[in-house]
Amino acid sequence: MSPHAPCAIITGAASGIGLATARQLARLGWRLGLFDIQGDAVRALAASLNPGQALHLGQPLDVTDPQAWAQAMDAFMAHTGGRLDLLVNNAGIAVADPFADTPLPSLHRMVQVNVLGVINGCHTAWPHLKRQPGSRVINLCSASALFGQPQLATYSATKAAIKSLTEALDTEWAAAGVRVVDVLPLFVDTAMVRDEVAKMGTVKALGVRLTADDVAQVLVKLATAPSRSLRLHTPVGWQTAVLDLACRLSPAWVNQRVTRWLAGLG
Ligand code: NAI
Repeated sequence: MSPHAPCAIITGAASGIGLATARQLARLGWRLGLFDIQGDAVRALAASLNPGQALHLGQPLDVTDPQAWAQAMDAFMAHTGGRLDLLVNNAGIAVADPFADTPLPSLHRMVQVNVLGVINGCHTAWPHLKRQPGSRVINLCSASALFGQPQLATYSATKAAIKSLTEALDTEWAAAGVRVVDVLPLFVDTAMVRDEVAKMGTVKALGVRLTADDVAQVLVKLATAPSRSLRLHTPVGWQTAVLDLACRLSPAWVNQRVTRWLAGLG
């Protein structure tokens, strides 16, 4: 591996969008830190790449654990000689059930992984990002952050928090030249949708039209474009672009009616 290759950490790299992004960045010669709670899967991914191209920790990384983050970051910095160009905060979970029927621990876990996990990542990466010219963070937000979704109430709330965190950190870190941006995909054909989200009326109404590779392509563009050209929020796919525009132009009651109708709630 070239010692001058750019370096990225991807959380949730074992499957779906994280896995597709890792493969695409690896093809471009990036050096990668593959962090996931599924330790065996990232070990297998690292073994499929060029020798030395990817660091896996040899153990699961739970993004909710700040101490594990600190150790993982130290290991990555030792691996890359102190270089970090990109953090992709991708690890996430979804439970798609009516709010009151979902046990509280499941709702809390979504907040922990989807919000605290991203906060942990940004906080741990900051001292390294600020030393690297052109460095950036890409957060996985979601179209569900545009308007709160029934059956995904807590998930939508976590993604709205990520949208807000992205805006605030991009503003706060501008002076150091560190960009923080997010992407907003609608439904993507990954385990998250197949195993959980697919049962929602909205998925039946709108379909699943994005692949993990489609989203990864957008992430790779954001990873490689000049940092000053990056938009704060990037909707992924034409459906999200239409919903984004509609949500911004329509009053809340119209958005709520459309949301109810798409969800099959009348
Ligand atoms: P996925 O379920 O295929 O992948 C998620 C990955 O995160 C898995 O490898 C899982 O092991 C890992 N993970 C879960 N909890 C973790 C933890 N505590 N610590 C470390 N790793 C953990 O799901 P997918 O679809 O690839 O999701 C990736 C991101 O994209 C998530 O943040 C999700 O919210 C977001 N997203 C997904 C959409 C979809 O329709 N699939 C739409 C919009 C956003």
